[in-house]
Amino acid sequence: MKRVLVATGGGDCPGLNSVIRAIVRRASEETDWQVLGSIQAFNGVLWEPQEIIELNNKNVAGIHFQGGTILETTNKCSPFSWPVENEEGYWTTYDRSDEMIQKLHDMNIDAVINIGGDGSQALSQKLFEKGLNIIGVPKTIDNDLRSTDTTFGFQTAVEIATEAVDKLVTTAASHNRVFVLEVMGRNAGWIALHTAIAGGAEVCLIPEIPYDIVKVKRALEKRFHNGRGFAVVVISEGAFPIGGEIVGKDLGEAGYEHIKLGGVSTHLIHQLKQAGFKPDMRETILGHLQRGGVPIAYDRVLSAQMGVKAMEMTINGKFGKMVAYRHPHLVSVDIKDAISSPNLVTKDSQLVETAHGLGICMGY
Ligand code: F6P
Repeated sequence: MKRVLVATGGGDCPGLNSVIRAIVRRASEETDWQVLGSIQAFNGVLWEPQEIIELNNKNVAGIHFQGGTILETTNKCSPFSWPVENEEGYWTTYDRSDEMIQKLHDMNIDAVINIGGDGSQALSQKLFEKGLNIIGVPKTIDNDLRSTDTTFGFQTAVEIATEAVDKLVTTAASHNRVFVLEVMGRNAGWIALHTAIAGGAEVCLIPEIPYDIVKVKRALEKRFHNGRGFAVVVISEGAFPIGGEIVGKDLGEAGYEHIKLGGVSTHLIHQLKQAGFKPDMRETILGHLQRGGVPIAYDRVLSAQMGVKAMEMTINGKFGKMVAYRHPHLVSVDIKDAISSPNLVTKDSQLVETAHGLGICMGY
């Protein structure tokens, strides 16, 4: 019997359970593959005692429409920089990757499927270079991974954010206000851009294009006549003004290497007021609502396709590769290419052109 270990790492994402179920169902078509799951990314392998579960058709039944991941996840504990608290209460990290590979060997694991975003796939590549038989499945609501047309979870996030715009429009119109909707997107503005177009926003501000507050003010003023009017701004959490900085704070959580973003919408309102913009303004920060809950049908289909493909790549020994969607095909690409640079919005992206055509101000 051969054994494949599945892990989900990084932030959760609608569609993760659908991938897990698809891997198990495809594996059960074979007679010689057993599927195991590691709890909380690779923590399940490294913890003492280990937390590894067997995945079978029975325990994955019906999970395809559940949000989150039945394997749990974390964006804190990399086997390459495992956080440990010393006696003085300070946190330090050390490399447990060789130890983990040895443990996987002792567990008779023949292959690993690592489902995760850029950080997790960078980890996959490093483990592959150390000799581990690993396959990547791309996951991120931010859609910032190269080599694949899109990632599951992204369309669900856009759907949730668009519903929010639809709701904000009615209250904005009733009160003659500007509403600023802050959506996720640390480095990539895809969620904001899709949401602004789908929701009919007036302004869209993204991390890739630092915004000019004067241009934003001018675009909003066009929507008001004698104090009457309304407008919606969609802004990525990672957006920032020309010459300014991203808004966030260090949470001080051990092993968490990011700044927790949030609050740029409030900052934008403050800047607009300072620039002399008069109408009332309110902000809404959507936060993790974009990541929770059930995946929409599109993401269920995409994640099921990716799960089946990942298991087929495992059977065929395509290690060091990541599943990718290249419409209309599922293909395998080198993980190292997928992580070589992020997939970001550029000023010449087709969608930016569409936004301009619709009269959406992109902050420049
Ligand atoms: O990378 C996905 C993402 O949702 C980002 O858009 C966001 O900045 C981050 O995760 C939030 O992470 P956490 O759940 O750790 O707060």
